[in-house]
Formats: sequence, C-alpha cells, structure tokens
Amino acid sequence: MDKFLNDMEREKPIRFTNQQLRIATDNYSNLLGSGGFGTVYKGIFSNGTMVAVKVLRGTSDKKIEEQFMAEVGTIGRIHHFNLVRLYGFCFEKNLIAMVYEYMGNGSLDRYLFHEKKTLGYEKLHEIAVGTARGIAYLHEECQHRIIHYDIKPGNILLDRNFNPKVADFGLAKLCNRDNTHITMTGGRGTPGYAAPELWLPFPITHKCDVYSFGMLLFEIIGRRRNLDTKVAESKDWFPMWVWKRFETGELWELMIVCEIEEKTKEIAERMVKIALWCVQYRPELRPMMSAVVKMLEGSVEIPEPDNPFPHFMGGTTIAHPVAESQTYNTTSISSGSSVMVSNSSIVCATPVMRKYEIELASSIV
Ligand SMILES: Nc1ncnc2c1ncn2[C@@H]1O[C@H](COP(=O)(O)OP(=O)(O)OP(=O)(O)O)[C@@H](O)[C@H]1O
Ligand SMILES: [Mg+2]
Repeated sequence: MDKFLNDMEREKPIRFTNQQLRIATDNYSNLLGSGGFGTVYKGIFSNGTMVAVKVLRGTSDKKIEEQFMAEVGTIGRIHHFNLVRLYGFCFEKNLIAMVYEYMGNGSLDRYLFHEKKTLGYEKLHEIAVGTARGIAYLHEECQHRIIHYDIKPGNILLDRNFNPKVADFGLAKLCNRDNTHITMTGGRGTPGYAAPELWLPFPITHKCDVYSFGMLLFEIIGRRRNLDTKVAESKDWFPMWVWKRFETGELWELMIVCEIEEKTKEIAERMVKIALWCVQYRPELRPMMSAVVKMLEGSVEIPEPDNPFPHFMGGTTIAHPVAESQTYNTTSISSGSSVMVSNSSIVCATPVMRKYEIELASSIV
C-alpha cells in the first residue's frame, strides 16, 4: 500500500495486473460507458482511490509492448489541472487497459444535451476556458506536441466542482486506426467534430483539434447538438444557422432561441466569434489554442471572422491549403504476428518497464 501511494505521489505510471483491476472494478460490474476505443468501468482501490478503467479492444503483443510502454510512459507524466490524470495501465495477454482518475460528474454531453439547466451560462463559459487551456497545454507546452484528434463533449469530464478535464489524450496515437491489435471503430475523430482534413487526403496538424473545439463551442453556446434533426430544417445544423445570423447582424435571434440572459449576452457573442474562427475551413486561419484561451478570457480583441462555410454555400470552390509544415505521423504500434505475453513478464519489472520508469502495483491488493 505504501509503495502504491508513493508511486502515485511520485506520479509515475503504474503497471497493474489483470487480477488487481478485476478486484478494483468488482469484476467489471459498474459500467460507466463505452466509446470508440473500448469500455469504461468504475473501480476503487483498497486505499479508497476511485478510478475509471478503460478496457481497450485488442490483444497484447510482445512486439507492441515497448511502443505501448513508451506512449503510456509519456501520457502518464503529463499533468495539468485541465487534463484527466492517467494513473497507470494493464498490458497482459487478456487485458489491455488504461487506469484514469475518476471524474465524479461524468462528461459534458450530459449537461449540454440532457440536464441543460444544471449548469448556467457563466459556468459553461468557465468550462470552455478550462477545456481550451487543457488543449493548449497539449499543443504548446508538452515536450512533444500531442494532437488529441477527438475533442467532443464526451471527452470533457467534470470533477466534483465541475472543473473540466480533457480525457483520452494520447489514445489516438496508441490506437492507430491501421493497427490490428488495438482497434478503433471507424477512422480518427468523431463525425460532426472532425476537421475536413481528417477525411480528405490532406496534411493534418494540431489545427484539427482547434476545429473540433470550435464545434464543441457551438454546442456549448446552443446547449444542443450541432446536428439535430428534431428541430426545424433551417436550424438543423446549428453552426451554419449561427453564421447566417452573425453575417446579417441578427445575433439577437440566437439570444432568444438559446434563452441567453441579458447579463451573459456579451460572453455569448464572444464565444460565437471564437467558434467561427476555430472552424475556419483553412487550418492556418484557425487560431492557436493559447490565443483561443485569451479570447475566451476577454483579454484580447476578437477580429471579425470570415465565413467558415463558403464551400457549403454553393460559392467558389476552395483549393485545400497545404497546411503548415508540421504534419503528424502516427507511429504504428503493431507489426508482425501476435506473440502472447507470458505470465512471468507480468509479475516482475521488465527492462522495458525500467527504461520508461514504470512501476509495478503489486502491493495494492
Ligand atoms: N475518468 C472517467 N471518470 C468518469 N467517467 C468516465 C471517465 N472516463 C470515461 N468516463 C465515462 O465513460 C463514458 C465512455 O467513455 P469513452 O471514452 O469510452 O467514450 P467517449 O468519450 O464517448 O468516446 P471516445 O471513445 O471517442 O473517447 C464517457 O462518456 C464518460 O461518461
Ligand atoms: Mg472518451
């Protein structure tokens, strides 16, 4: 127990065994949800620490072990107030799982789409600022830039005080879509949030996260899904509806439709402008996330955004820009045939684990 607590304090990623996680999750009896990478269960360790165990699809392979450790070693050392903490992982014959800190209030989608009245507009604005800070840290302050690829309300988790924490960063790199071992359903990102360059054969940069953040911001402004077939057709794609109101100087209509109070109108207007900047078709026109933070905080002037959707409005065809020099290469963590991890490699620290300073969690159960 002492060793475990020490490791958590020293903030080293911990390697758990299948059995330890089975006990902590009470045999995976408390389901929190599931998504593109796997299924998430609630768990509690004997020292009272609550965790969310994300069981990834796929089988372990000795050949991907080192790459896995390297990635987990990196993700597990990234700490920021607006990022969900990764405590550790399990990499065994029958189980590949990530162990995260547990977020008592679940994900933001619940409060945007189901319990709309729980969080007021000011709190939602704070959540937008915190989320932007978390992404800015991944993009601009980590030693190696981390592109999230899947920013959306389901990946913004809320702690007991409703502070936002970005979840699942680094997973896109671990779960390569071409990978036969840990498989993702579909391609990268989630439809509706994924930037155009993710589904077109063009260079991809961190600006794809800025686009997704913009789409998230529209959903925060409207407290509705951007694409909602239940509303009148003219309003069914909210970002376009907002742009048309903005362009014609009729944002007052948005304030009425979205029930935005007088005192928060200025915040709402600011968020509209920022969202329109973030979803610009050309990646280089989208701002850096640190600039988004400043704009959201209100410490800088926000220039008037251009039409982000001319390609949808029957206007001129846009040649896709050659994006900025930095492109992202996914590192494949799979190759060759499956070699199962033997039991003996689970109970003792391997040289690979020592290399990435990964600790065993043998003393917690
Ligand atoms: N650390 C956590 N604490 C509490 N609940 C969590 C935690 N991580 C995930 N969840 C819950 O589990 C649900 C499923 O998470 P999961 O990441 O598998 O799917 P997703 O976020 O909807 O999609 P994606 O696979 O694209 O990330 C989340 O919506 C959230 O409610
Ligand atoms: Mg998620």
